[in-house]
Amino acid sequence: MERLAKVIAQSGYCSRRKAEELIKAGKVTADGKKITQLPALVKKDADIMIEGQLLSFEEKEYYLLNKPRGVITSVSDEKGRKTVTELIASEKRLYPVGRLDYDTTGLLLITNDGELANLIMHPATKIEKHYVVKITGKLTNEDQKKLHHGVIIDEYLTKPAKIKKVKYDKKTDTTVFSLIIHEGKNQQIKKMMNAIGKKVLKLKREAIAFLTTDNLPSGHYRALTPKEVKKLHNLTKNNIN
Ligand code: URA
Repeated sequence: MERLAKVIAQSGYCSRRKAEELIKAGKVTADGKKITQLPALVKKDADIMIEGQLLSFEEKEYYLLNKPRGVITSVSDEKGRKTVTELIASEKRLYPVGRLDYDTTGLLLITNDGELANLIMHPATKIEKHYVVKITGKLTNEDQKKLHHGVIIDEYLTKPAKIKKVKYDKKTDTTVFSLIIHEGKNQQIKKMMNAIGKKVLKLKREAIAFLTTDNLPSGHYRALTPKEVKKLHNLTKNNIN
């Protein structure tokens, strides 16, 4: 027997969290029976239907996109803005792993592997995301200490951030630095900067764990190699144990 949400995520339909929402909303049946309680266990070969459609187990695809500015991290947008999944030529139902804001650039994983996506986003797996941040004013030692110890955003204390390569430009009164975090709350870095009285002027994600923007110009993407996929799987497993 397997957890129903896990089976749905493994099929690539959506993340495990999203699958749990669908189950609770009464949209999932297994072998003809509606399931709404969690955790729900089903047979590995159960016929699972979501909103009346039989779940199919499609081949997994994994892409790394260097997201340009002005593209929305979503599978669709009611305002008709370009979405990150539109940039990828694939027949599969893909979705982004986590979120980069409309004006944020850099690395984004896009896949139909809901299970891996869920693990990468989960703070317990401690997958490091590396950002280059440009802010107003000077990032003082005091500010760095605060970020290292954690700041309050939306009543939540952020986990320690690592800070490197701090460069203050006196002429423009701005600071550029590298920030490494493993969480991914909504607009986390912008909120963290607000918490220390600064404003983000530019934000780019230059690495997710061992994956970097090297040889990947803005707006371009590439498929992950099988070796990279394996390494990501191993990383999430090692970190969570
Ligand atoms: N933090 C933010 O504030 N925005 C992003 O796009 C990513 C991290």
